[in-house]
Amino acid sequence: MEKVLVFGGTFDPPHNEHVRIALFALNYLGLSKLVVVPTYLPAYKRNSLLSFEDRVELTKLAFAGDDRVVVDEIEKRREKDNYAALVLPELKKKYGEITYMIGGDSLDYFDEWYMPKKILDTCEIAVVPRAGREEFCGERLEKKIEELKKKFGGKFSILPILGGDVSSTRVRAQMAFSCFDDVPEGVAEYIEKNKLYADFHEMVKKVRRFEDDALFEHTKAVVMTALDLNSDFRMGFAFDKVFTAALLHDNAKQRKSLDGLSVPFDAIGSPVLHQFLGAQKAKRDFGVEDEEVLSAISCHTSAKKNMSEFEKLIYTADSVSYDRTYEPIPKLREKVFENFEEGFKSVLEYTYQKVDKSKMYPLTEQAYEYYIKNDRK
Ligand SMILES: [Fe+2]
Ligand SMILES: [Fe+2]
Repeated sequence: MEKVLVFGGTFDPPHNEHVRIALFALNYLGLSKLVVVPTYLPAYKRNSLLSFEDRVELTKLAFAGDDRVVVDEIEKRREKDNYAALVLPELKKKYGEITYMIGGDSLDYFDEWYMPKKILDTCEIAVVPRAGREEFCGERLEKKIEELKKKFGGKFSILPILGGDVSSTRVRAQMAFSCFDDVPEGVAEYIEKNKLYADFHEMVKKVRRFEDDALFEHTKAVVMTALDLNSDFRMGFAFDKVFTAALLHDNAKQRKSLDGLSVPFDAIGSPVLHQFLGAQKAKRDFGVEDEEVLSAISCHTSAKKNMSEFEKLIYTADSVSYDRTYEPIPKLREKVFENFEEGFKSVLEYTYQKVDKSKMYPLTEQAYEYYIKNDRK
C-alpha cells in the first residue's frame, strides 16, 4: 500500500499557491502520491460556483505533467454527506496510509467538523500555517494543536511553509480584470477558451472607458481591498455584490455631467458629487438594481451617520485601498485590517480632520458626530 497526501478544496479555480503548497508537502513528507479531491457541493454554496466538471478539469490542468498526482472525483460518486470523516476512510481503503493536508485557518474550527475523532483515527494531519495571520501560524497554531490532541488524540505536523496570501476569491477578481498571473498556464488557457469567470468582463470594459489609467488602477485596488476585508472579517457579502460596488464606486468621477439625473443640490460643484452621480449612473449605465450597492456608492466619499456594514466596507476600502501608499494611509490600512470597526472610525476621523471645515459636507459632519464625538462622551 502506498502512503498518500490528500488535499481537498473547492478549487474555484485552482491557483499557483495550491500547486506550490501541495507539491512542497508531498516532497517534504516523502509521500508517493498526491490525491486531490475537489469538493462536490461546498458547505458555503455560491451562486457563481463553476460546475464540478469544470473544476475537476481545471484541477487536472493545474497539476498536469506530474504523474504523482491524481484528481479523485469521489465526492461526486458519493453525491452527499461528503464529510471528511466519511470520505477519508474510503480514500484510505483505496490508496493506503493517508496524510490529510489542511490550512491553519480550517484547523481553528476543527472541533466543529463532523466527527473530528474519526478523522484523526483515520489519518495524520499536516497543517499549512497561513502567512500574515498570527492566529493561524506560530505559537497560537501549536497551542491549538495541543488542545485538539488532548481532546481527540491524533497525529499532527506543521509544514515548514507559509500559505501565501492568495485566495480563490482574489484570483477570480483578478480574472475579471483579465489578469491570470496567479493561475498555472493550462488553467488560464482553459478559462479563456471556455469563457469562465467572464460575468464581469463587459462591466469592467465599460468602466475602463470612463476612467483614466490612474483612476482605473485605483478602482482595481479598491476591489481587491474590499474583497480582502470581506473575507478577512468574514462579513459574508456575496462576491458579486462587493465586486460590483467597488468596481463602480468611482464610475462618475471623470464624467460629471448631470444628464438630468437628480443629485442633492448642495453636492453640485463639490467633491462628493461623484458619489451621488455614481449611484445614479451605476443604475442607468450598468443596470445595477441592488439598493445596497447603490447606497454604498452614494456615500463612499462623505460617509454618513448610521451606515450599514456594507456601506462601511466600501467607504473604508476606498479610503485605505492598496494603491494609496502615502502616509498615513498604510498605517490606517493596517489598523483597519486589525480591527475593522475601530479602523473605520480612524479613517473617518482622519478624513474629517483633513477636510477644510468651511467645505465640510453635511453628511460627513453628521457621520463624525455620530461615530466619533458621541463615542467619546
Ligand atoms: Fe470616489
Ligand atoms: Fe475611490
